[in-house]
Amino acid sequence: MVCFRLFPVPGSGLVLVCLVLGAVQSYALELNLTDSEKATCLYAKWQMNFTVRYETTNKTYKTVTISDRGTVTYNGSICGDDQNGPKIAVQFGPGFSWTANFTKAASTYSIDSISFSYNTGDNTTFPDAEDKGILTADELLAIKIPLNDLFRCNSLSTLEKNDVVQHYWDVLVQAFVQNGTVSTNEFLCDKDKTSTVAPTVHTTVPSPTTAPIPKEKPEAGTYSVNNGNDTCLLATMGLQLNITQDKVASVININPNTTHSTGSCRSHTALLRLHSSTIKYLDFVFAVKNENRFYLKEVNISMYLVNGSVFSIANNNLSYWDAPLGSSYMCNKEQTVSVSGAFQINTFDLRVQPFNVTQGKYSTAQECSLDDDTILIPIIVGAGLSGLIIVIVIAYVIGRRKSYAGYQTL
Ligand SMILES: *[C@@H]1O[C@H](CO)[C@@H](O)[C@H](O)[C@H]1NC(C)=O
Ligand SMILES: *[C@@H]1O[C@H](CO)[C@@H](O)[C@H](O)[C@H]1NC(C)=O
Ligand SMILES: *[C@@H]1O[C@H](CO)[C@@H](O)[C@H](O)[C@H]1NC(C)=O
Ligand SMILES: *[C@@H]1O[C@H](CO)[C@@H](O)[C@H](O)[C@H]1NC(C)=O
Ligand SMILES: *[C@@H]1O[C@H](CO)[C@@H](O)[C@H](O)[C@H]1NC(C)=O
Ligand SMILES: *[C@@H]1O[C@H](CO)[C@@H](O)[C@H](O)[C@H]1NC(C)=O
Ligand SMILES: *[C@@H]1O[C@H](CO)[C@@H](O)[C@H](O)[C@H]1NC(C)=O
Ligand SMILES: *[C@@H]1O[C@H](CO)[C@@H](O)[C@H](O)[C@H]1NC(C)=O
Ligand SMILES: *[C@@H]1O[C@H](CO)[C@@H](O)[C@H](O)[C@H]1NC(C)=O
Repeated sequence: MVCFRLFPVPGSGLVLVCLVLGAVQSYALELNLTDSEKATCLYAKWQMNFTVRYETTNKTYKTVTISDRGTVTYNGSICGDDQNGPKIAVQFGPGFSWTANFTKAASTYSIDSISFSYNTGDNTTFPDAEDKGILTADELLAIKIPLNDLFRCNSLSTLEKNDVVQHYWDVLVQAFVQNGTVSTNEFLCDKDKTSTVAPTVHTTVPSPTTAPIPKEKPEAGTYSVNNGNDTCLLATMGLQLNITQDKVASVININPNTTHSTGSCRSHTALLRLHSSTIKYLDFVFAVKNENRFYLKEVNISMYLVNGSVFSIANNNLSYWDAPLGSSYMCNKEQTVSVSGAFQINTFDLRVQPFNVTQGKYSTAQECSLDDDTILIPIIVGAGLSGLIIVIVIAYVIGRRKSYAGYQTL
């Protein structure tokens, strides 16, 4: 029943392995899950592959494609009950696991999310991995399908997150199967609908909505640069990189736990350099102007993309994060540093001080205008409202006076 497409180390060619007797040329996973009455409750058939990038001990990076290191099991796959929705759980090789879960609404069900875990502690698949441990790539999908319809997506779907690229194609799924019979009504994904080979489809219920994958706010990290024993530069920020290539934007959140900082401090320039397994370097260069203010003058990045290519860009003519020397610059709201048309950095909960740091602490903050708005708006609205209330009260008092006057004359 189970065949798998396996990938050796790049360069040695494609190896196809079928784990079950029968159709040697088919590399699909297939699952027919039955309930306690032996009636089908969930049916799925699909093909997938993964590429994973990781850092090696000598600070170079490798991309591996998952290859056969064992059999496939479906332990943990469930039909679902009152507490838990249906779930497909697949284990393969040493420490690979893949799950998809489903939820149900009144007239639809959803492929809710997909989660892929791998263990970089496995030396065969990830030789010389710098950090060893289990890593997980979660993707929220929220693909809505009418109840009692079989979802079909023959087109290629690609999910990219951090160091993992997941490919899926020839997908057939039905959860919440009724009466133990997989439906003959097919519900096509958008990509299949627009492709020329369109099998006959029935469309009664709402069209499918593939919600855009929500990008969560990046976690803020604190980075510092030392000059001897003293901290000379401080930066606290949540960073989100937005790289646009071939009209497709990839949004990457920087994980502060795995990102390290170095740099240098001089009297008129300061450098903060961040690096991680995927970022070769991300440089923030600060400069002094008019001998009394600092600003972010330059950003220079070079990073590995999931497909293995290197993305590099620099701009040394920027003007962001301007504040007086001796203070820090702060901006809690999301702010964008536009480095080029193809690259921008969204910052969250930002605070930086590239010069005159004393005792390893931030000096007084100069806040960005975005943050000020949050205080100003309620004040303006409040002032406007109280003005309005006064006008209404006066109008009311005058109105009553007039009518009293009217009655008195009667
Ligand atoms: C994974 O599958 C996709 C879609 O079929 C294919 O384009 C890609 O080459 C595959 N990856 C590898 C490493 O073979
Ligand atoms: C790093 O290690 C890989 C193999 O693990 C090797 O191919 C590469 O040449 C090494 N690079 C350096 C700079 O030593
Ligand atoms: C399934 O997983 C559970 C716990 O995760 C384990 O106890 C059980 O042995 C597994 N069953 C099989 C058949 O691998
Ligand atoms: C689906 O799986 C994700 C990741 O494993 C989990 O966070 C989420 O709570 C699950 N949803 C449901 C409805 O079980
Ligand atoms: C399931 O069976 C019930 C009773 O036999 C029937 O009313 C219902 O239409 C069936 N549903 C489907 C989807 O076949
Ligand atoms: C990423 O950049 C593109 C192109 O500049 C833009 O359309 C998109 O809104 C940006 N996304 C985020 C999350 O900043
Ligand atoms: C970073 O580490 C902290 C503490 O160990 C943890 O709570 C947080 O989830 C981690 N963040 C990420 C993005 O892994
Ligand atoms: C990687 O992807 C980018 C766009 O997404 C493309 O420009 C580049 O050529 C790709 N590199 C490789 C080696 O496939
Ligand atoms: C960006 O960094 C690279 C490597 O350090 C350097 O060669 C290049 O000159 C820098 N670009 C700019 C504009 O500073």
